[in-house]
Amino acid sequence: MIETITPPKPRSATKGNARVSANGTSRSLYAELADSLQILIEQGTLRPGHRVPSVRIMSRQRDVSIATVLQAYTVLENRGYLEARPQSGYYVRPRPPSFAPEPRMAKPMAKPAYVGVNDLTAEVLEFAMKSDYVPFGSACPHHSLFPTKKLARILGSVARRDPSLLGRSGMNTGFEPLTREIARRYLQAGVPIAHDELLITTGCTEALNLCLRAVTKPGDTIAIETPAYFGFLEIIQSLNLRALEIPTSSREGICLNELRDAIVANDVKAVMIMPNFHNPLGSLMPDEKKQKLYDLLGEFDLPVIEDDIYGDTHFGDTRPKPLKAWDTDGRVMLCSSFGKTLAPGFHVGWTAPGRYIERVRRLKFTNTMGTPVVLQKTLAEFLRDGGYDHHLRSLRRAYHQHLHLFLRGMQKYFPEGTRYSRPQGGNFIWIELPAKVDALRLRRDALKRKINTAPGNLFSVKDRYRHCLRISCSVPWSDEIEAALRTLGDLIKQQL
Ligand SMILES: Cc1ncc(COP(=O)(O)O)c(C=O)c1O
Repeated sequence: MIETITPPKPRSATKGNARVSANGTSRSLYAELADSLQILIEQGTLRPGHRVPSVRIMSRQRDVSIATVLQAYTVLENRGYLEARPQSGYYVRPRPPSFAPEPRMAKPMAKPAYVGVNDLTAEVLEFAMKSDYVPFGSACPHHSLFPTKKLARILGSVARRDPSLLGRSGMNTGFEPLTREIARRYLQAGVPIAHDELLITTGCTEALNLCLRAVTKPGDTIAIETPAYFGFLEIIQSLNLRALEIPTSSREGICLNELRDAIVANDVKAVMIMPNFHNPLGSLMPDEKKQKLYDLLGEFDLPVIEDDIYGDTHFGDTRPKPLKAWDTDGRVMLCSSFGKTLAPGFHVGWTAPGRYIERVRRLKFTNTMGTPVVLQKTLAEFLRDGGYDHHLRSLRRAYHQHLHLFLRGMQKYFPEGTRYSRPQGGNFIWIELPAKVDALRLRRDALKRKINTAPGNLFSVKDRYRHCLRISCSVPWSDEIEAALRTLGDLIKQQL
C-alpha cells in the first residue's frame, strides 16, 4: 500500500530545521525528504499515477513537521515529479523528466601498446588525499560510510586478547578463519570456492598484481576493457606488458565479438576484466553473457583476471555472480578486497587464482610475505558476528542514493548533449561531454576552485576520452557537493 512507502532515512542527526549529515555538512530537512522521494520515483518504487503518502502521514513517518513535508512536495512539484490534485493529494506525474542518453562505445584498437608512465594518475590520487578538495576524482569512499567505530573496538579487543599477533608475521596463505568467512559468503552468492582456494593479499591491488605476474612475462599482450580502470594500466605498465583495449558498453560490459577478433589477430596471453560494476563505466554483464565470455576464453585456454571489488555494491536485490561462478577448469583468477565495502584503511584483499594458486602463493611470499594477522582476525570477527549484511544493506542504499542525486545534479547543471552512464551498482558515473570540451583543461580550471576530477585521458593507453570524465559519487550529498557540480557545469559551459 502506497501509504506505507517510507523513503530511506539518512544516517544523520537533526539540528533545528537542518540535518547534520555523517560528513558534518548540513542540509535542509525538506530538501533531504524531496531527494529521497525523488529516488523512489526514479527507481520505479513510486510509479506514475501513484499517490504519495499524505502530508500528515509522511510527517509522522519521517518525524518532521507538516510544513517540512509540504515544502518537500512543492519542491518535487517544481521539479516535475509530483502533481497536486485538489481534495485528493499528491501524485507521481505520468511522465517524470526524461534522462539524457548513455555514453557511446569506443572504437577497437588496431594493435597492442605499451602503457606510458602517466604523472596525471599520481596527481589525481595526491589531490584525492586532500580533505579540502571536493573528491570527484577519488575512488575512495567517504569514511563516514564505514563502521569504523565498531571495527576499532574489535581491533582493540583482538590485540588485547592476543598481543602476540602484533609480534608475528602473517603467512602467505592467509588467516584461515578469514578465508573461511570469505568462502562462506561466496557460497551464499552462488560461487562454491573452498577456503583453501583463497589467498589473502594486501588489498585488491596486490591480488591483481600477483595474478598478472603469475600468467605473463614482460612484452606479453593483455586484453582489457576500454575505458580501463587506471590501476590496471599502472600495473600493466609496471610489469612492462602491452595493453589491448577492447570496446566495452556502459550497460553490458565488454563486446564479445571485438574480444574474439582481438584474440584471433593478436597473441593475447590473458584478459583482465571487471564484469560487475566496472570502474569507470559502471557496467554490469548479464549472466548469459558471462557464460559466453567464459566459453569464448575457453576456446583459447586463456586465463582471466577478474576484479570483483564492486560485486557487493549492487542496487538490485541479488548480488551478481562473478565470472568465477562459471569456472570449471580453474582459469578465472578472482580478485577483490574490503576496500569499497568495509575497511579501506585495512587494505586487506584476496584472490582465488584457480589452477595458478601455487604460483601466486610463491609470489605473495616474495612480494609482502603475509598480510597483518591482527587485521585479518578483526575482519574475520566482524564478518562472523559484526552485522556485515546489515552494514552492506545500508551502504548499498547510500551508494544508490548518492548516485541518483549526483546524476540529477549533473543533468541540472551540465550542458545539453552530455551523456551519462546508468550504473546498477558501484559509485561512479562515466560522462561523455560535448566533443569540444577538453577534460584536462576542465581539470585545471576545477582545481583552482578546489575540485578534484578524473579526466577521461586517464582511462586509456591511447589519447582517447579527452572529452570524458569519471565522477565519483562516493561522498554524501550536501549543499557543498551540489555547488561544486554547479561550478563544474559552469566551467564546462565556458568551453563551449
Ligand atoms: C576497480 C578497482 N580495483 C581495485 C582497486 C584497488 O583496491 P584496493 O584498495 O583493495 O587495493 C580499486 C580502487 O579504487 C578499484 O577501483
